[in-house]
Amino acid sequence: MLMSMLLMKMMDPMFDEATVKMLTEDYKDNPFLLATVAEKLTPRGIIEAGIRAELGTAISRPLGSPVVLSPWNKILLSPRQLFELPTRSTLEISTRTVIGPRAARPLLLDIPILITGMSYGGSLSLRMKTALAKGASLAGTATNTGESAVTDEERGSAKLLIGQYHRGGWLSGSEQLDRLDAIEIQLGQGAWGGAVEEPIAHDSIGEHLRRAWRLEKGQDTAINARMPGKENTRDIVKMVNAMKQQYDVPVGVKIAGSDYIEYELAVIAQTDADYIVIDGSEGGTSAAPPTLEDDLGLPTLHSLVRAVDWLIDNGLRERFSLIIAGGLVTPGHFLKALALGADAVYIGTVALMAALQSQVVKVLPQAPPAQLALYDGKMNDKVDIDKAAKHLANFLQSCAIEMKLAVQAVGKNALSELARSDLVTVDKDLAEFAGIHYAGSPRRGELSGERPAGREAPAREAGQPAWQ
Ligand SMILES: Cc1cc2nc3c(=O)[nH]c(=O)nc-3n(C[C@H](O)[C@H](O)[C@H](O)COP(=O)(O)O)c2cc1C
Repeated sequence: MLMSMLLMKMMDPMFDEATVKMLTEDYKDNPFLLATVAEKLTPRGIIEAGIRAELGTAISRPLGSPVVLSPWNKILLSPRQLFELPTRSTLEISTRTVIGPRAARPLLLDIPILITGMSYGGSLSLRMKTALAKGASLAGTATNTGESAVTDEERGSAKLLIGQYHRGGWLSGSEQLDRLDAIEIQLGQGAWGGAVEEPIAHDSIGEHLRRAWRLEKGQDTAINARMPGKENTRDIVKMVNAMKQQYDVPVGVKIAGSDYIEYELAVIAQTDADYIVIDGSEGGTSAAPPTLEDDLGLPTLHSLVRAVDWLIDNGLRERFSLIIAGGLVTPGHFLKALALGADAVYIGTVALMAALQSQVVKVLPQAPPAQLALYDGKMNDKVDIDKAAKHLANFLQSCAIEMKLAVQAVGKNALSELARSDLVTVDKDLAEFAGIHYAGSPRRGELSGERPAGREAPAREAGQPAWQ
């Protein structure tokens, strides 16, 4: 008490002087100018300019873009109370999810929330990957290798492991691909604005990782912009189909959302893939140049709506499972993504935060929590794996429980039954774009199927699918 009074006493004259200065001085001598400059350039713009001025190279910002363009908070789910009743008990509500139902060995999940691809070595430590795998297993869902390789540690901890066949080439060959429960061909990522090259120097690769990636001592490596040896669309289609021929688990294709999404889907539709992953512009990453994170791609919500519309318009909705990723943080986001037409969601950044939970105090305030989770994190040996796994499983369980309550309120019996007709939005343009009801106009007549009046599928030659 005495201390703070003393501090106040000391600060008072300085505070008075600064206030008088701000209220009297001409702008060019006024400390408030800092505020207007910060408004003009934004604090992030100023800091990034400083880092660029220091480094003179592309800079790297962890965990993706702070720019959120998907208007999830403008959408609500519509409860049923009288004209139709809510579901009697949440016990009647199913959260079960199948990815790649046409595959010989589909991916069977207890919940439609999967831990997304985050690579061991390229981003996360082996301890963190093991914790995520254990947590996902406890919650009855899958995790994903990311752009790395299959390690015994992750495989041994994950009941269900999806492996990324990626542009770095370190996860390939049947000895690795045979160990997976699904194969995801990674052609792009939201936070990287699609697919660009990323060199990785040998001195950033430790011994265990070097052996996992099957690299020679002192060998530099890279993630290429293109899949090695694939020089055109035909090559990609052939590669996907060859993978499908060889493996009986679901084969998927991951791309970043972009304004060419219909054209990208038209190529995927030419393959025998089982599932599609779309990563919106709000997607995370361990670290990428801010320009790629902030200024390229398509927001997650818009990517999802356009992808579902295109698949429906081309009679392909049942053919592909659809997983959406990018800036999905809360059970509300997950519910709205499912109602807009996704079969499941991938989570990255929030899964890391949930798994780390209070362990962040092991590094704060000296260092950001990333230092606990990242492969080159200075304190990544301090992660308690089982504690992180338990916290992640609790997070997923908590999300599933709240999602079931929402489905009960909406009067449905499964997360997979959620539809656009269960949504309403306060934004007229969004209502028009996403084919959901506008809060500003009354509901009339029967609750019909997916599309409200005026949103018929575009006319096409009889039997002429758009993708041929
Ligand atoms: C730490 C981290 C590492 C990532 N590594 C990969 C990767 O190796 N391969 C990939 O396709 N995406 C990678 N991503 C992107 C995610 O798979 C996913 O598309 C994105 O994170 C979803 O956005 P969210 O983090 O907002 O949930 C990474 C994301 C994070 C946060």
